[in-house]
Amino acid sequence: MKFFIDTADLKEIRDAAAMGVIDGVTTNPSLVAKSGRKYLDVVREICEIVDGPISAEVLSVDYDGMMAEALDWAKVHKNVVVKLPLTLDGLRATKACASQGIKTNVTLCFSANQALLAAKAGATYISPFVGRLDDISENGMDLIGDIVTIYQNYDFRTQVLVASVRHPIHVSQAALLGADVCTIPYKVIEQLAKHPLTDSGLAKFVEDARKIPR
Ligand code: E4P
Repeated sequence: MKFFIDTADLKEIRDAAAMGVIDGVTTNPSLVAKSGRKYLDVVREICEIVDGPISAEVLSVDYDGMMAEALDWAKVHKNVVVKLPLTLDGLRATKACASQGIKTNVTLCFSANQALLAAKAGATYISPFVGRLDDISENGMDLIGDIVTIYQNYDFRTQVLVASVRHPIHVSQAALLGADVCTIPYKVIEQLAKHPLTDSGLAKFVEDARKIPR
């Protein structure tokens, strides 16, 4: 499973990249707004840090606006993936991008039928939001299992990108279900590395190391 980092914070991206665990980056308008910087400037810098797919979202909600932005994003860097919302206009834009060889990440997916439509439209990635489904008392990971099965049933090439990840169990479940990608906030990446037995074991090794004659 590929790991993308879900952030527009350049320090977090640099730190995660230095750990060697990052295959790509996803951003969205809310994450970029937190940075206080222009979206284009942020994406350009990310492209210099990570050599992998970088999702940059359109801000328009109509087809013409989305396509104008998609064409602009595609010119920024070969690794930019255009993030489009799962709406009727977004699906039309997905189809048009696919026809022009522009990679897409169809976002805000909350149902298997939406994922099926995105695959038929030629999406490169589909982003089901597991955490937001959990928030409304649905099981986000059930949706991942359904989409993986449906895509396998029909040999769709669209990659399942698990989004809205809130904790380490989402990540291990995504891997067990065979998702292609998990996009993970920096805080959760840190949590993945943590284990109390690692900490106590290391403390004991450090203590015993002092007893070794030098
Ligand atoms: C990533 O592509 C999504 O925009 C992001 O994972 C959404 O996460 P959230 O539900 O925590 O805002």
